[in-house]
Amino acid sequence: MSEAQESSYQADALIARDIDAYLLRHQHKSLLRFITCGSVDDGKSTLIGRLLYDSKMIFEDQLAALEADSRRIGTQGQNIDFALLVDGLAAEREQGITIDVAYRFFATEKRKFIVADTPGHEQYTRNMITGASTADLAVILVDARKGVLTQTRRHSYLAHLIGIRHIVLAVNKMDLIGYDQAKYEAILADYTAFARGIGIESFTPIPISGFMGDNITTGSANTPWYTGAPLIEFLETVELDVAADQAKPFRLPVQWVNRPNLDFRGFAGQIASGVVRPGEAVRVLPSGKTSTVARIVTFDGDLPQAVAGQSVTLCLADEIDCSRGDVITAADKPVEVADQFEATIVWMADEEMTPGRAYWIKLATQTVSATIQPPKYQINVNTLEHAAAKTLELNAIGVANLATDRPIAFEPYERNRALGGFIIIDKMTNATVGAGMLSFALRRAQNVHWQALDVSREVRAGLKNQKPAVLWFTGLSGAGKSTIANLVEKKLVRMNRHTFLLDGDNVRHGLNKNLGFTQADRIENIRRVGEVARLMTDAGLIVITAFISPFRSEREMVRKMMAPGEFVEIFIDTRLEEAERRDVKGLYKKARAGELKNFTGIDSPYEPPEDPEIRIDTAGMTPDEAAELIVKRLIP
Ligand code: ADX
Repeated sequence: MSEAQESSYQADALIARDIDAYLLRHQHKSLLRFITCGSVDDGKSTLIGRLLYDSKMIFEDQLAALEADSRRIGTQGQNIDFALLVDGLAAEREQGITIDVAYRFFATEKRKFIVADTPGHEQYTRNMITGASTADLAVILVDARKGVLTQTRRHSYLAHLIGIRHIVLAVNKMDLIGYDQAKYEAILADYTAFARGIGIESFTPIPISGFMGDNITTGSANTPWYTGAPLIEFLETVELDVAADQAKPFRLPVQWVNRPNLDFRGFAGQIASGVVRPGEAVRVLPSGKTSTVARIVTFDGDLPQAVAGQSVTLCLADEIDCSRGDVITAADKPVEVADQFEATIVWMADEEMTPGRAYWIKLATQTVSATIQPPKYQINVNTLEHAAAKTLELNAIGVANLATDRPIAFEPYERNRALGGFIIIDKMTNATVGAGMLSFALRRAQNVHWQALDVSREVRAGLKNQKPAVLWFTGLSGAGKSTIANLVEKKLVRMNRHTFLLDGDNVRHGLNKNLGFTQADRIENIRRVGEVARLMTDAGLIVITAFISPFRSEREMVRKMMAPGEFVEIFIDTRLEEAERRDVKGLYKKARAGELKNFTGIDSPYEPPEDPEIRIDTAGMTPDEAAELIVKRLIP
């Protein structure tokens, strides 16, 4: 009986005798998460089977229990770095989008393992990214007969991109090349050249045979020239990310504020990196306020110190502002704060990325609204060449600038996965549509500041004796937006109100004359109009806008730009057939004839408001009645 089989046998006996004792023993083992990549022919399944067979497989529910336990006591080597990404993707799973990552659990005497088996084809890039996002290590399988292939390069690139620190190049099926050292070395040389080119500083090559068991649990007599550790031993001893994270400066993204009564206020969260002790000076970001750690509170009492991976509650010596999403850091080594970044983005949704659209971005415990610029370039994951791209499609990886609606505390992903990695969420469907890694803050963000002005918007509105508002008309072309908006403005002016009417056709002759009717241009059209409308409300005006504004997402974006209650969405509800029948400008005719592309309602979508403040059914009233109704709703 081999050593591994022996210990597996003893484990069986222990499980049979005392499951609690068995679980307890595993509780205190560290946990290594790793992924295996390679195509089916590379022998991945055989290798995984071999690992499970030669060690001891734990049943899934038992490990879930172990994990829950270790999370509760907050001790062991959980790689929580990119936990958020996983949360987000868990949400995606609930929505029924399949991400085929098979997780398997096993344990040896020294460690517990979770291995994510990700499919190798290019159309599964997002699966691999998902599996890799929580991994400490990647086992890249190469068929010794074939050497380094496109797939090997793609997987290595992705593993490196997502920040996996340890790469094992497992040269498999050594038995089929007669354990030929020269051939093995040739593969190594080939891979080394490639790895250097993409910035992989080191990797661990191991000649194996998953099928025969060479260099899996014990060194193989067939490869006397190989002096390194067998695969399992390497997996058992490699440094975990969580251990490396302890050496970094202290960072705690605040998950929630624990305030059971007036005498206690603590900031709870999982330590992303570093070590903290009572008495140490800390800084809260983005605000930059400083204080000292008074206590480190946990379920099991106060701690003299806490380290990366632990969930704790920090009490500070001073009553400073700090809330969910803030990051508590070492006072002398704070993180950066910015609102414009360059990032690498992996797109994971069937629907392509829409530059200019506002998405939710979740980074550590911060959730902010952000818009992404058109990509600077897209990366061909097979050749690693950069190619021009207007957007990113499913599985595409690109580099783009993005702007958040308020400053966030972050670190470059390269330095800290937890504070540099984010997921992108569609605001309408709440689905995770992408993941990204912040590279750096754009300097222009740091050099443009808000100018505080002495004459406030309240002063301006007060002089005009009115409350600013935005009356946002939306509806199909020819619905009657401009006609009704015009009547509304006349009525308001007669009531001594100060107004301004922004009309699609007019604005498109000036401010927006460089925009057409593609989805991207319409989004930019509405963004600019939203900004102008906001400036005008700051000036104290009642702004009336008449734009098709076909997308819910952008109307919501503009709504959020205004003060609460200031945005009044008015849906001019005219059926397509009716608008087309009227065809005041003859545009529907042209569109039907194919002379006008992207025409709303014909070959470009219109998303009607679901819950507008005012809905006008133009079939049931005249434009003047409609205008009267709107003004009455506004000024009763
Ligand atoms: S929006 O979609 O970006 O909000 P906007 O309201 O500014 O559109 O402009 C719509 C007006 O542009 C229409 O009333 C129509 O007169 C004109 N127009 C020209 N081409 C198109 C098109 N392809 N789709 C819709 N409207 C068009």
